[in-house]
Amino acid sequence: MHHSSELRRLGACALAATLIAATAAPALADEADMVTYARQGIMNAMQWDANVIYAMAKGKIPYDAEVASERAAKIQVLAGYDIASLFLDGTSKPERPGKTRAEPSVWDEPLKFEQGLEDLRAAMANVVTQVGAGEEEMIAAATELGQTCGGCHKQFRAKEY
Ligand code: HEC
Repeated sequence: MHHSSELRRLGACALAATLIAATAAPALADEADMVTYARQGIMNAMQWDANVIYAMAKGKIPYDAEVASERAAKIQVLAGYDIASLFLDGTSKPERPGKTRAEPSVWDEPLKFEQGLEDLRAAMANVVTQVGAGEEEMIAAATELGQTCGGCHKQFRAKEY
């Protein structure tokens, strides 16, 4: 009797140890995936809203000051997030090929990268007011937006995953 309960306890410990060992490694891989999805998700959401402004600037859809302002305000909210915190160590393109386009320069030049995010936030303050101010102002703001996003991509985003 005594022996079998002892054995059961040992068995339970061994099972617990096995479960911990089995879950530890995938949890780390999940974390890298999650944080990559998170930053790409914010980027894609900004693109989703920016595309409406770009379409207006190119005359593909009619200019609507209210819609343009709403879209810009959404980008501004997204840009206000601490996006740099989603670039965890170990999640650059050479470390995770096929999953991310984040260049190692993000980690090698963190101040420059953070400056790129600050530039975006500063640009959005202007873009938000300008897109609603008239068609000409909207076109200029769309150009500014495209240059701000693109300027960072040129330095920190690879062409391929
Ligand atoms: C400070 C730098 C920086 C700024 C500013 C920036 N991006 Fe990005 N963006 C990146 C990096 C780095 C990646 C690559 C992320 C990855 O693949 O993990 C990226 C990726 C993307 C992607 C691809 C996401 C995917 O699923 O692979 C889109 C779309 C995008 N950005 C849109 C935008 C838009 C729109 C703006 C401006 C409103 C913007 N970005 C501003 C750095 C920036």
